[in-house]
Amino acid sequence: MAWQLHFFHFLFLILLTFSATPNASQCSIKGLPLVRNISQLPQDNYGIQGLSHITVAGAVLHGMKEVEVWLQTFSPGSRTPIHRHSCEEVFIVLKGSGTLYLASSSDGKYPGNPLEHSIFSNSTFHIAVNDAHQVWNTNEHEDLQVLVIISRPPIKVFIYDDWFMPHIAAKLKFPFLWDEQCLQVQAPPKDEL
Ligand SMILES: *[C@@H]1O[C@H](CO)[C@@H](O)[C@H](O)[C@H]1NC(C)=O
Ligand SMILES: *[C@@H]1O[C@H](CO)[C@@H](O)[C@H](O)[C@H]1NC(C)=O
Ligand SMILES: *[C@@H]1O[C@H](CO)[C@@H](O)[C@H](O)[C@H]1NC(C)=O
Repeated sequence: MAWQLHFFHFLFLILLTFSATPNASQCSIKGLPLVRNISQLPQDNYGIQGLSHITVAGAVLHGMKEVEVWLQTFSPGSRTPIHRHSCEEVFIVLKGSGTLYLASSSDGKYPGNPLEHSIFSNSTFHIAVNDAHQVWNTNEHEDLQVLVIISRPPIKVFIYDDWFMPHIAAKLKFPFLWDEQCLQVQAPPKDEL
C-alpha cells in the first residue's frame, strides 16, 4: 500500500512541476506542425485598441534571427503610435486603405510635420531605418490589413508623443508588447539614434 501512495505522490509532483512551467507552450513552437494555419495562430490586441496582431514568424517564438513577419488588422480609426526603430520594415497592404505618416527627415532634432501618403489594397511601401512613422486606418468603413516584415528582430521601438518630440526624448519600449510575455531581457539594447 505504502509504495502505491509514494508512487501517486511522485506522479502528482511530476504533474505539478510540468503544469507550473510558465506558459511554455505559448513561448515555443515545439510540437506544432511545420505548416500552420494562420487562422489558428495566437492573436491579440496587446492593449492597443482596434489592433489585431499575429506574429506569423519571429524571433521569440520561432528563433528567427534576420527577419520577422506579422499580420496586423487595424479597425477603422485605429493606428500605430508615432515611432521609429533601427530595423528595416516592409508593408504589404492586403485589405482596406489608410494613411502613412512619414517624417520628412530624420536629420533634425525631432521628426517634424510628417508627409502624408495614401495607402491602399495591394500597395506596398517600406520604411528606412530610424525614420519616424505612423500607420493609420483613416477609412471609417473598412478594416486595414497589412503583412509586415521587419529585419533584426526582436523589434526595439522608440515611441514619440507627437511629431515635435525630440528624437532623444522618444521612449524605448523593449521588449515590445507582443514579445513581452516570452522574452527575458538582461540589458536594454543600445540602439539610440
Ligand atoms: C501565462 O499566460 C497568461 C495569459 O496569457 C498570463 O495571464 C499569465 O501571467 C502568464 N503566466 C506567466 C507565469 O507568465
Ligand atoms: C484554418 O483554420 C480556420 C479557422 O479555424 C478553419 O476555418 C479553416 O478550415 C482552416 N483551414 C484548413 C485548411 O484547415
Ligand atoms: C495585386 O497585384 C498583383 C500584381 O499586379 C495582381 O496579380 C493581384 O491580382 C492583385 N490583387 C488584388 C486583390 O488586386
